Amino acid sequence: LTLSALALSLSAAGAYAGPGCDSGETVAKFSHVTGGTTHPKVVAAERFAERVNNELDGKLCVEVYPNSTLFGDSKELEALLLGDVQFLAPSLSKFGSYTPKYGVFDLPFVFKDMDAAIRFTQTDAGKGLLHEMQDVGFVGLGYWMSGMKYFSANKPLIEPADANGLKFRVQTSDVAKAMIEAMGASPQPMAFAEVYGALQTGVVDGQENTWSNIYTQKFFEVQDSITETNHQLLAYLFMTSTEFLEGLDPEVREKLMQIADEVTQEANEAVKVAEAKNRQNILDAGGKINTLSDEQRQKWVDAMKPVWEQFENEIGSDLIQAAAGA
Ligand code: LMR
Repeated sequence: LTLSALALSLSAAGAYAGPGCDSGETVAKFSHVTGGTTHPKVVAAERFAERVNNELDGKLCVEVYPNSTLFGDSKELEALLLGDVQFLAPSLSKFGSYTPKYGVFDLPFVFKDMDAAIRFTQTDAGKGLLHEMQDVGFVGLGYWMSGMKYFSANKPLIEPADANGLKFRVQTSDVAKAMIEAMGASPQPMAFAEVYGALQTGVVDGQENTWSNIYTQKFFEVQDSITETNHQLLAYLFMTSTEFLEGLDPEVREKLMQIADEVTQEANEAVKVAEAKNRQNILDAGGKINTLSDEQRQKWVDAMKPVWEQFENEIGSDLIQAAAGA
């Protein structure tokens, strides 16, 4: 390989496009599954790497691998425990095999909007959940909001009955599965990287996601339309492992935690604008969006509400109340 061929293949793999890591620096890999340039997670991960690489230059260097190029949904959490990757930001809907508590974030219509979700993460209950998987070896550094979610399908979905009999791709979340069943539809858990192909070939009929994911993954191209249901939150756990964090020099660790906090705050302040832009990007690219009247929206709320009760014991009613009241 010539040097330029090497550089080309590295950038094709999606490595952080800033200055490369120097020898002597501790290299930390940040793997995630989203792509494009306008996605809130893409922007936040790059900002985090940029700040670490400037402010901890010579000590620590973060390389970002977006788009499931290093690890996809199914492997990334194990890879973190094995030390093959040091930073992740998986959706809170992907931790079912480690804790049932994060199901609270998945309850349909539990948060009115992202501001309510942010308020919940700032309560004692919300902050406590950052440390929920300490015994596994996971450390939550912060919650990154991604957006509210909307259903799309190969036919217009105006009322929940329109979803009867359809197959929807879901993340690996029991709450999401129950929610799809409550609509009389069938859930199909699937890794994010496979969704476009599955929609295109008709393996599934529909999916649910944020404007930023629907735009950057081009889901709108292979769906009839997207319905502005606002039924659920998508947010991430920005995280590392106990092993990695404890292996750092105390000053490096302290600076890293400070950067992580500031980037989290900045990301959450920017997310609403990014979502609004990507909604418009979908329309500009020819995607179709169905809006709902209050009455139509209420039908979705009513159809999905029984899901709360199904998970009350697993999640805990205190936690559910804290989220719903935020
Ligand atoms: C999904 O799988 O739909 C999302 O969690 C992807 C992401 O990370 O935004």
